[in-house]
Amino acid sequence: MDKEDGAVNRFHLKHVYESQQFDRELLDTLFRVADEIKADLIRGDRSRYRLEGKIMASLFYEPSTRTRFSFESAMTRLGGDILTTENARKFSSAAKGETIEDTARIMAGYADAIVMRHYESGSAERAARVSPVPVISAGDGAGQHPTQALLDMYTLKDNFGQIDRLRIVMVGDLKYGRTVRSLCYLLTKYDNIEIVFASPTVCRMEDDIKEYLDRYQVPWSEETELDQVLPEVDCVYMTRIQKERFVVPEEYEEAAGKYILTLEKVRTMKERAIIMHPLPRVDEIPSEVDADPRARYFDQAQNGLYIRMALLYLLLQQA
Ligand code: CP
Repeated sequence: MDKEDGAVNRFHLKHVYESQQFDRELLDTLFRVADEIKADLIRGDRSRYRLEGKIMASLFYEPSTRTRFSFESAMTRLGGDILTTENARKFSSAAKGETIEDTARIMAGYADAIVMRHYESGSAERAARVSPVPVISAGDGAGQHPTQALLDMYTLKDNFGQIDRLRIVMVGDLKYGRTVRSLCYLLTKYDNIEIVFASPTVCRMEDDIKEYLDRYQVPWSEETELDQVLPEVDCVYMTRIQKERFVVPEEYEEAAGKYILTLEKVRTMKERAIIMHPLPRVDEIPSEVDADPRARYFDQAQNGLYIRMALLYLLLQQA
């Protein structure tokens, strides 16, 4: 990206706590920087995008592999430093009753950005309200996971060349699944999108998202039979049934194991369709599917590095 094109200045966000904050222009800028970062990394050139002297604090109150380590890798590859804890719920002063707001105020004195994963919906926005440095949500309970949605959209663009005119089925835990919620918000920014929700009855997509899609005139439908939908969609977005979020254990038992994307089912999909999954998976995609060229979930996770490098750069260059 040329300095004079002003893209950094047009990236006017300070915090990232919900995906509705993004419009197409911001997404285009983010994807363009991510493309350049990806190309640079593949060439072994790290000279263009740098954040030397900047510090990112990662506060994870819930477990994570991809989000935490890709953010930490992103900051390290940009030449910045990180402050981190294995388990913020146990090893930060949250264990002594400190509020999210007080923690954010304090960490803002030690770091230039705070990446936060918390078990309560709305937690990142609460931190952002009091933090003088950028707060980036890394997932808030069953609320949203905006940076996952950003890398999901980047993966769609990477595969199809554009995001308009796609038919997507979201499968699994749509009630507690913060990734699908964030993804729905972003898909409304594009044209001729159609969404199908396929979930067990106990974890159907919530009404607030359906109403949002209606408001933005994005057609959606609910199906129980995945087999009928598979041959007609461009993307199958699988999700894990999240045992840890179910309050009633019997409901988890009812939902678990309902939708398994076997290789036999994958073979009914369009040749150019793709399979995505935010990961981790349990049993919903057997490992034998991994070798099918439609399986893109490992590329998707890798894209998280490029998107998070681009996001940190754009937020911190102007901070
Ligand atoms: N997709 C995702 O958020 O994975 P982690 O929980 O491993 O960060």
